[in-house]
Amino acid sequence: MGWNSWNTFRCYDLTEQVVVQTAEAMVASSMKDAGYEYVVVDDCWQEGTRGEDGRLRAHRGRFPSGMAALGEQIHDLGLKFGLYASPGRRTCAMIYDRYPGIGLGSFSHEQLDADSMADWGVDYLKYDWCRANRGGTKLDEPAAFAHMAQAIQNTGRPMVYSISEYGRSKPWEWAPQVANLWRTTPDIGPSWRSVMRIADKQHGLAQFAGPGHWNDPDMLEVGNAGLSPTESRSHLMLWAMLAAPLMAGNDVRSMSAQTRDLLTDSQILSIAMDPAGRQGERTGRRGKLDFWRRELSDGFAVGVLNRARSARGLTTEDRDRLGDLTGAVDITSGEIGRFDLTLASHEMRIWRVRS
Ligand code: GLA
Repeated sequence: MGWNSWNTFRCYDLTEQVVVQTAEAMVASSMKDAGYEYVVVDDCWQEGTRGEDGRLRAHRGRFPSGMAALGEQIHDLGLKFGLYASPGRRTCAMIYDRYPGIGLGSFSHEQLDADSMADWGVDYLKYDWCRANRGGTKLDEPAAFAHMAQAIQNTGRPMVYSISEYGRSKPWEWAPQVANLWRTTPDIGPSWRSVMRIADKQHGLAQFAGPGHWNDPDMLEVGNAGLSPTESRSHLMLWAMLAAPLMAGNDVRSMSAQTRDLLTDSQILSIAMDPAGRQGERTGRRGKLDFWRRELSDGFAVGVLNRARSARGLTTEDRDRLGDLTGAVDITSGEIGRFDLTLASHEMRIWRVRS
């Protein structure tokens, strides 16, 4: 769990001040207490050229204090420090977002870059593919990610290793040996459509995840404009059922009390962070209703999502389809054993059954 800069701050709005203020807000808002730990600085932290020593360096205008100082400030708050890099010659910001002079990749500098990260106190590396093969570079995808895994290991500093190749070459089949988490889809966006598209693409991937190696359906859009409060809540619930890494992607400094309460909702988070680490999945559909189930260390959770543009009532058949729900607690209302519900448009409900 943590926070990542990209969904809100993209490139030019990313500054060391934003990162430090966000880390402070994570502490003040109780997000840290709820388990959000990693503060990940995504693309655009770098200068577009290496220093004379060949090392990556922080963007001088937006990160004037440098990465070691930033890491120290994050650590002083009791949080962990994450940074972004790419295996090719350029990062995504340069390729897709046309940010000139920003976004230098790690190609042929893998060990040096891993060493820099370790020197700066980095605890989490996001390594993002970004058409690493363009411009005549011939990189084998799994090998390129394994190369950086080895470079990190050589530093002797433990880092969470998050890889991102958008599900292009079925990373769930090879990445569990290499990385702690791997993206399964293209980028999420702040819309219900995007959340649904990504949730649907997780189908069939549950068997590949487990403690220490996770499918990553991408960072959260919870609390961002483009999702209603109901949609944000369903989005977080789906990611909880998916045992997904939870990286907040909102402006934590200015979030509403409602967004803070949602991100720190202990009922949802205790499902998300269940120690057994078994990913849940969609188990069925009726019309616009999706049914979900996740096995938990002390029982299981089932959920119903209403994808329709209007409200839908649950029938007794729907309840029967969810299995034996004796003693089931609706984690939204706290009510026990009640299913005669109507779900608002895009609403999700989860029931938890303890064995
Ligand atoms: C890619 C990744 C995003 C983000 C951007 C940064 O699109 O998938 O998560 O890191 O690059 O440029």
